[in-house]
Amino acid sequence: MKIGLLHSLLRKDEKYLMDEFAKIKGVELVLIDDREITFNLGKDKFDVDVLIERCINHSRALHGLKLFEAAGIKCVNSYNVATICGDKLLTSVALAENNVSQPEVRVAFTEESALKAIEEMGYPVVLKPAVGSWGRLLSKINDKDAAEAILEHKTVLGSYHHSIFYIQKYVEKKGKDIRSFVVGDKCIAAIYRTSPHWITNTARGGVATNCPVTEELNDISVRAAQAVGGGIVAIDVFETEQCLMVNEVNYTMEYKNSITTTGVNIPQKMAEYILQVAEGK
Ligand SMILES: Nc1ncnc2c1ncn2[C@@H]1O[C@H](COP(=O)(O)OP(=O)(O)O)[C@@H](O)[C@H]1O
Ligand SMILES: [Mg+2]
Repeated sequence: MKIGLLHSLLRKDEKYLMDEFAKIKGVELVLIDDREITFNLGKDKFDVDVLIERCINHSRALHGLKLFEAAGIKCVNSYNVATICGDKLLTSVALAENNVSQPEVRVAFTEESALKAIEEMGYPVVLKPAVGSWGRLLSKINDKDAAEAILEHKTVLGSYHHSIFYIQKYVEKKGKDIRSFVVGDKCIAAIYRTSPHWITNTARGGVATNCPVTEELNDISVRAAQAVGGGIVAIDVFETEQCLMVNEVNYTMEYKNSITTTGVNIPQKMAEYILQVAEGK
């Protein structure tokens, strides 16, 4: 069995996964560096049974997945999953289509219509680039003055990526959100991310502690994963007094700081799942 690992710089996340594959008899791991690979469209033949995508750059991940799938290789995650998860707007559509609860979301195409939508929703709201991660370029907007300023800045200074306004209702989450890890049809682990800042990403200083996987958390996490096409994904979940809701779904999930926190060998579960996919199960 040959497993291709498409990677950039090898982070701890990739190294832990490599260690798990090394423990499995009959598995050969083929490292494919996205800084070195070239594609010969229509003629590519890759000698691997499955490809696992672990790029750092979203664009390389997306296009790499398309090209590997075009060459007939099964990929984890699939190009479709990466496309949907890589774009918060597409994710919200998929969640809505599958009745997975999420914060109120509005989308507008101009500064004026965006301001109108924000005023209708009421403050605070959060404005996000549809494509982005690690908590970058998120704006919490508390009043009309801020809304006007941010919208004008985005319009005048923003690149193509800021031309669509993705607006979410701010959710009062009491200083923390949940990051749950889904592998196949199961939520295998979850952490709380706590921060004095409203942006709780661990990349931005959020502190991780174990979060028990309740039936409710498993249910919403797995339904969110299935809504975007399944595979190995990490879900951002908000917990309110009323319910759990899904904020976003991540497709090249980072988990290195969650193994000891949760006591779950996340890369082992990932490796087992990838083998199942390779074997066509
Ligand atoms: N609508 C919201 N209400 C409250 N907090 C939010 C909201 N949207 C984002 N956040 C906070 O910001 C963090 C990053 O937002 P997210 O949408 O996950 O973007 P990224 O892709 O950068 O991780 C979330 O984990 C959460 O802590
Ligand atoms: Mg997030």
